[in-house]
This record gives sequence, structure tokens and C-alpha cells, in this order.
Amino acid sequence: MTRLEELRKRHEAAEQGGGPARRERQHREGKLSARERVDLLLDEGTFEELDKLVTHRSREFGLAEQVVPGDGLVTGYGQIEGRLAYVFAQDFTVFGGSLSETNAQKICKVMDLAMKTGAPIIGLNDSGGARIQEGVVSLAGYADIFLRNTLASGVVPQISAVMGPCAGGAVYSPAITDFVFMVDQTSYMFVTGPDVLKTVTHEDVTKEELGGAMTHNSVSGVGHFMAANDTECVQMIRELLSFLPQNNQDDAPRRPTTDPVDRADPELDTLVPAEPNVPYDMKDLIRRVVDDGYFFEVHERFAMNIVTCFARMDGRTVGIVANQPAHLAGCLDIDSSVKGARFVRFCDAFNIPILTFEDVPGFLPGTGQEFGGIIRHGAKLLYAFAEATVPKITVIVRKAYGGAYCVMGSKHLRTDVNLGYPTAEIAVMGAEGAVNIVYRRELVQSGDDPEVRKAKIEEFRTRFANPFIAAERGYLDDIIEPRETRWRVIKALRMLENKVDTMPKKKHGNIPL
Ligand code: HXC
Repeated sequence: MTRLEELRKRHEAAEQGGGPARRERQHREGKLSARERVDLLLDEGTFEELDKLVTHRSREFGLAEQVVPGDGLVTGYGQIEGRLAYVFAQDFTVFGGSLSETNAQKICKVMDLAMKTGAPIIGLNDSGGARIQEGVVSLAGYADIFLRNTLASGVVPQISAVMGPCAGGAVYSPAITDFVFMVDQTSYMFVTGPDVLKTVTHEDVTKEELGGAMTHNSVSGVGHFMAANDTECVQMIRELLSFLPQNNQDDAPRRPTTDPVDRADPELDTLVPAEPNVPYDMKDLIRRVVDDGYFFEVHERFAMNIVTCFARMDGRTVGIVANQPAHLAGCLDIDSSVKGARFVRFCDAFNIPILTFEDVPGFLPGTGQEFGGIIRHGAKLLYAFAEATVPKITVIVRKAYGGAYCVMGSKHLRTDVNLGYPTAEIAVMGAEGAVNIVYRRELVQSGDDPEVRKAKIEEFRTRFANPFIAAERGYLDDIIEPRETRWRVIKALRMLENKVDTMPKKKHGNIPL
């Protein structure tokens, strides 16, 4: 055999992976192969594979007969919408996609290249975990990857897709990355699986219930996105990247729009009900403000009392954080605080301006929240808004009560432009609660006459719960007509385009984790 023939043979073997039968099984289970996933993820014909000829070193463990070039991991680089991206994809058909020493080295190689060249890294996970035959060498490989995940955090976007099993300590690499995608019904993540649970805690749960895509997207918040199948998953990754810069020194790509920057929307004047307890869908408001009425939601099914999404305004990416009165009346709780905080920190790390729409009655009361640590979790959101140095714009559309007023991008947390709708109610608490304290004597004297109560509530609203007091002090830069929100926000974004702000010199802060 000539060298050329030998090379072709090895390449062919790498492409075959675990062979047609195992690939067939992968397809039967509704999953694509690692190579099919990579091909769909990257722009056609742009994939350059690295380490295709690498083999495992566990021959001494009786695996001499099972040497597959590439060792069940496809790594390399290519383009997504014309921009450089690095990828690794675990091939479940080779040793169940399990992580060998050489697998870890291949992953570390592309991660190091991503860091040096300032481009995103995408991991497509489908693996039985540490390669059992390799023992500690495999565990060391995981730790090498975790270290790189940590060092790359805030430097280049890191995206994980879980497209099959991902269990035990292996979950911690996706967990450190910025966004986790999961595929419905074919992926799962857990630290300890159902069998162990049954023995230890006597709980009887399926893999899907314990760690499926829906569980992690709606209950635990580990997953940010859920796709119906592998093809949709990689398409969603492509879309997410279209909103992001390549690295922390770069700006997100601009996408020109035909949506007029000064488009007024008279419907906005009546979209937010003046009555503080009447719900509405905050997403309707967002849609009416952003370019082409389109936004890309992060954590769509988790902590739905806060909305986090990417959208474009004037063709530029913005990260939007908005209270959602349609869920839990838009209260802040543990999950929504953590969700909002992580999103704000991502935007801040990657030069994405933060636009906040505020309509919040306060923090959710209850022992569940207090015992669960709402104090330290709520503090995360406050901390994240305060430390962010990217352009920050807040629009108070209705309620801004109590501590939640301070937290949600208030002027006092060095937000650049704060606007209010005429419906804004900024107060220590809602009028209903406040009159019980402020007008207690009058209410008692009247025998709690409902008419007196109504009048006092109205009086409180007029005197205290309005946007004018904040505007008179400059805590709001202006009170705007809702119809002009889009143009006013865009003008602020243009004004802030070259904003520079800094943090005091420190190693790093100590965000309350
Ligand atoms: C070596 C493995 C493997 C592993 C699977 N295989 N997992 N080989 N190391 N970890 C092999 C199988 O032997 C089989 O080989 C092929 O991959 C497909 O596996 P199946 O069991 O046939 O597939 P399926 O029925 O779909 O089950 C998938 C599975 C199961 C649930 C993942 O394989 C499994 O439980 N694997 C072990 C998982 C595990 O305990 N891993 C260690 C976790 S701890 P053949 O030749 O028959 O096709 C961990 C620590 C990380 O990962 C530490 C980080 C700090």
C-alpha cells in the first residue's frame, strides 16, 4: 500500500466511525451522526477537520482491535454566516462517544485555537462520559477541559449542545459555557442517573423526567434552548451566533433593516393598562419596539416572570431584560433573578447594550423564597446590573416598587438613559398596601369605609406613585409617550455607541453566588 493509499484508508476509517450498523442505530433513535451535525452547523464546504488521524492510547486495556482514526471525536473549524467558528462533536458510534485522553487533547486544541484567534467554540455533546477503560487519564482530560472553559469564559462565546447522553461530571463543561441547547426526547443531563436515585433516595424517575430537555429548560434552568430535533438545534445555534460578537474585543455584527428607526407605534399608548393589577404580555411591547418585530428568546420556558432575549435595534444587537406581568405578576423571585443576572453578565462581557423594560411589583413573598435564599439570589441581579459597563437603557413602563425599582437598571446603578411612560408608578410599595400604613388613622376613623379607602388610594397615586417625582430629580431622564419608544431608545443607543466606563482596579468582584 502506498502512503497515499494508506492516508485515504485512514481518512475513510475516520469517516466511518463506529460503522454503518451503529450509525444506523443512531438514526433509528432520531439522532444524526457527529459528522452530519457538523456539516449542518457550518456553512457548506467550510469545515476543516483537525486531528482526524489521532488514535487512542488504551491499547493496553484490550482495545488494540478497536482503533478508529479520530477516536470518535470530530474537531476542527469552519464558518458560520461567513465568520470563523470552532467545533467539536462527539461520535456516539465510537465507544459511545466516551471521552479518552486523546479526545480531551483534541478538544483542548480547538479551545486553545478559539482563544488565540478570538472565535466562538461550539461543543456538540453525545457521550457515555469518561472512557471507562482509561480511568484517571480520562478524568484528567475532563479537568483540562473545565479549566479551559473557565479561562475562555467572557473571552469568546462558548456554546454547548447536548444531543444525547451527558452524565456525571461531564455535565460541568456545558454548565460553564454561556448557552446550553438540548434536543427534546433524545438528550439528557444529570449528575446521578435514575438507577442510583432509586437505590439512594427511592425515587422512581425516568431519564427524561430527571434530565430531559423539557426538565432542564423549564424546571432547572440548566438548558437555555430546546430544539425539536438535531437539525433544528444546529439551526438555532447558527441563529444565536448571528447576534453575538466573535469575542470580547469585538462588536456584534450589524444587520441592516428596512424597519424605520423613527417608526411610531400609536398602539403602544394603550398597550400597558394603567390599572397596576391588570396583566398584559410584555412580549407584545418588545415586538413593537425592536427591528422587524423579531426577537430571539433565551430561557423561553424558565422563570417566565422575566423575559431575556436578543433583538436588533437600528441593526445592532441589544440584550433585552423585561419583567413579564403575565407570569407571577412580573414579581422577581430566585429563578428570575439568577436568569436575569446571568444574561446581563453575558451581555456585559460581550459588548452588547442592555435594554430593560420594567414593570415589577417587587420580590415574590413566601417562606419558599426566603428559605431558598432570595436575599443572595436577588442580590445577583442587582450586582450584575451595577457592574455592567456596556450601554444601559431602562424604560419603566408601569410598576417600579420597592427594592425591585433599585435592582432593575435604575439610574442609581449607573444606567445611562432612564425613561418612563406616563403610566410609571415608582414607589416604595403599591398604593393598596401603602394606604394601610400612611392613612391608617383616617381609615380606622372611617370604619374602613370603601369609599374613603378608594379616595386615599387615588390620593396616594397622585401624590407619590407617579413618574414625575423621579423625573424632577433626574432619576428619569424623560417621560416619553409610549408610541415613540423605538426612536427614543435608538437615539440613546446611537448616543452611547462609543461609551467607555470602567470598574475599580480589582482581581475580580465577589458576586453573591
Ligand atoms: C467506554 C462506553 C462508555 C464509556 C458507553 N460505551 N459508555 N465505552 N466508556 N463510558 C460503549 C458501550 O460499551 C457500547 O459499546 C457503546 O458505547 C454504546 O453503548 P450502549 O450501552 O450500547 O448504548 P446505550 O444503550 O444507548 O446506553 C448509553 C449509556 C450507557 C447510557 C451512555 O452506555 C452507559 O451507561 N455508559 C456508561 C456511562 C457511565 O457510567 N459513564 C461514566 C460516567 S462518570 P459497543 O462496542 O457495544 O457498541 C463520568 C465522569 C466524568 O463520566 C468525570 C468528569 C469530572
